[in-house]
Amino acid sequence: MAKPVLIGCGNMGSVLADAIIKKGICSAGELTVIEKFANPYTKRLAKNGTKVLKSFKKLPAKQDLVILAVKPQDSAEVLAEVARKIDEKTLVISIMAGVTLSVLRDKLSDAQIIRCMPNTPCSIQQGMAVYCGNGKVTDHSYVIAHSILSTMGKAFKVDDEIMIDAATAISGSGPAYLFYLAEALKEGAAELGFSDQQAEILATQTLLGASILLNSSDDDPEELRRKVSSPGGTTLEATKVFDSHNLKSTLIEGFKAAYNRSIELGKQQER
Ligand SMILES: NC(=O)c1ccc[n+]([C@@H]2O[C@H](COP(=O)([O-])OP(=O)(O)OC[C@H]3O[C@@H](n4cnc5c(N)ncnc54)[C@H](OP(=O)(O)O)[C@@H]3O)[C@@H](O)[C@H]2O)c1
Repeated sequence: MAKPVLIGCGNMGSVLADAIIKKGICSAGELTVIEKFANPYTKRLAKNGTKVLKSFKKLPAKQDLVILAVKPQDSAEVLAEVARKIDEKTLVISIMAGVTLSVLRDKLSDAQIIRCMPNTPCSIQQGMAVYCGNGKVTDHSYVIAHSILSTMGKAFKVDDEIMIDAATAISGSGPAYLFYLAEALKEGAAELGFSDQQAEILATQTLLGASILLNSSDDDPEELRRKVSSPGGTTLEATKVFDSHNLKSTLIEGFKAAYNRSIELGKQQER
């Protein structure tokens, strides 16, 4: 495996750095990190033997593997620097939200490029990463990218970049949808007489338990729901109210709004 260079070591970059080292993709000493200012993550990585650079100046030319984890607004400056350090053998993996393959290709024309959409549970190695490559990515590079991106949870490849926008709407924003449900569970619990602390435990543990059950069960979500919805029972009374307000189609409408917004933001980056 090529020695990776990680550019941007903030929230996401540090998660990737930790996951790559922990899962044995490379050792701490084989990783190079470029980060403008030292932060607690870079200090910890440097202490464990990772080379931490403040700029691209000391980075040797012709890198094999570059991971881009800066904010989209810093992408222009960073891509211009990266372009000087790559050739057609270089694999570049970008996790920058909304920065399309077209923008990346414009600046890094020679490279094999993979655009990835991770989500926040990546920080606890329970994330979802969906990725898509330009025409130059070799099978071998896809294997490398998959092994890197799946260190943070699950990962899969899509062939059409539009599915990155779709993933943004489902798995990217998805944790926020569940937090929204947690808010509703908490507020409902409080209205039914539980203390704030009890409401918090009820909401969190219910979502955690249900997610683990969903993940470990052979049943699909509909079947699992049916199993707790006995005729004439309490759950069915609640879902009847949800259905009368078209809750499911309202949620799907919301997911589609997120999808459209993702496409729009991608186009803005391209301008
Ligand atoms: N957080 C998420 O859950 C999530 C999910 C999906 C995608 N993403 C994507 O992941 C990327 C990183 O997000 P984040 O939350 O980790 O952002 P972040 O915490 O701001 O980390 C980015 C880091 O890059 C550094 N940086 C900026 N310009 C640089 C340069 N020229 N050279 C070296 N380092 C530079 C920043 O330093 P300064 O702070 O000093 O500028 C910062 O420490 C973003 O593009 C975001 O769209 C994040």
